[in-house]
Amino acid sequence: MDHQHWKNRGVFILAAVGSAVGLGNVWRFPYIAYSNGGGAFLIPYFVALFIAGVPLLILEFSLGRMVQKGAPQAMEYIKKEFKWLGWFAILIGSTIVVYYAVIMSWCFGYLIYSFTLKWGANPETFFYGKYLGLLPFEKAGHFGGVQIPILIGLAVTWIWIFLSIFKGVDSVGKVVLVTVPLPVLILVILIIRGVTLPGALDGLNYFLSPNFKALLNPDVWIAAFSQVFFSMSIGFGIMIAYASYLPDGSDINNNALLAGLLDALIAFMGGLAVFSVLGYLAYTKGVAVPDVVTSGPGLAFVTYPTILSLLPFWVQFFSVLFFIMLLTLGIDSAFSLVEAFVAGVEDYIKIKRETFIAIVCFIAFILGIPFATKGGLYYLDVIDHYLTSFGLIFVGLLESILVGWVLGSNKVREFANLTSDFKIGKWWDISIKFIIPLILGAMLIINFINSIGKLYGGYPLWLNIIAGPVWIAILLVISFYLSYRLRKGV
Ligand code: TRP
Repeated sequence: MDHQHWKNRGVFILAAVGSAVGLGNVWRFPYIAYSNGGGAFLIPYFVALFIAGVPLLILEFSLGRMVQKGAPQAMEYIKKEFKWLGWFAILIGSTIVVYYAVIMSWCFGYLIYSFTLKWGANPETFFYGKYLGLLPFEKAGHFGGVQIPILIGLAVTWIWIFLSIFKGVDSVGKVVLVTVPLPVLILVILIIRGVTLPGALDGLNYFLSPNFKALLNPDVWIAAFSQVFFSMSIGFGIMIAYASYLPDGSDINNNALLAGLLDALIAFMGGLAVFSVLGYLAYTKGVAVPDVVTSGPGLAFVTYPTILSLLPFWVQFFSVLFFIMLLTLGIDSAFSLVEAFVAGVEDYIKIKRETFIAIVCFIAFILGIPFATKGGLYYLDVIDHYLTSFGLIFVGLLESILVGWVLGSNKVREFANLTSDFKIGKWWDISIKFIIPLILGAMLIINFINSIGKLYGGYPLWLNIIAGPVWIAILLVISFYLSYRLRKGV
């Protein structure tokens, strides 16, 4: 397969923003902010954005443009023995995309249900009971049969992903012209609707007023760094692949800053949309904002439909808009990972790009089936926890050490500055060589110590072990195998 190029800078930045901006901004960010003290979370989030997010994005863009290959080859370029790290990054992303597509499948289901408001008066019972058919918590770890509507939605999602990318970066360029601005437009409409509801101000107050005490809690910081990684698509090999499609002489620094700021802005807007309606929900229930109980997946599929049904008019219209927004947000993030995968193997694969992508999408669909079962949500929850709080941070740590100390951060900085509108200074080297490794290293250690003897989510030990350490170990083994097996000329 040949290596491709973006048509122009605009397409690249749209595609990079499209990958970064996803369900993470409107679904994960508000929920993580909510459970980490609301407004308190904004400070660590912005610190993480500027200390690690933007510098690492500059790093990944530079590497991609420098090597003009996917993540495994980029790591190989730095040090041959570290090719596996590129694969590991992609495999973490591959696991995420497998369940990310399942969440998109829920969005498809809910898009259709929006027309008849099928969730009725009790969206919570409908979501967990009827739609997910969720097994009781004591049965976590069992599968309990496939939910057919979810399976159908999953197939539709993968077909949509395939159609968006099989033709290559040119068609990606066309898709993102619609799927990046459209959800932002819808978000603006939903914010206007949200902030004009009674009680909205209480919700926004909770979202925006900092609680300085929470800053002393290391868990809040870990949540902030993981969220920045997840949201900016850093540590998945995605941004390396996307930057590898850039023509020579393209700007790096400005694009990285722009993508980082846009991602944060849209997460912030997601917060406005969600917290304003949470305020409204609190108002109609007569309770305080922190007591409007929400959980991660519940936020989009339980709380939002609940709130929508309280609207005085145009209920179906706003429901449809909301789920179209989630779908168009998710699609560019999902296919960016498939692109990262393709960039990793293109040197070694002889079959046509279309065929290869079809096979990848089909396999990812099959691997997603366990998440479409009655016990799928529990697996999704545990795997997401271990991959984001250990896997991603670990990739970011090694990436910064490799670039900082092996390749030489000054070399990368000079390369980036050569073609960039604004130049980055020595602060970047200090950040890549010292600050990021120290912070991420400390986090891994704290996380590790914290999790010993503690079962995540109260799930059984064996489920924690299988979805956490065992899964990460399997990904590592596959990474080593692929980096050994896939060499030039094989
Ligand atoms: N950045 C995406 C978001 O905010 C999430 C994401 C990151 C992702 N890496 C991914 C999704 C890999 C699928 C595959 O929603």
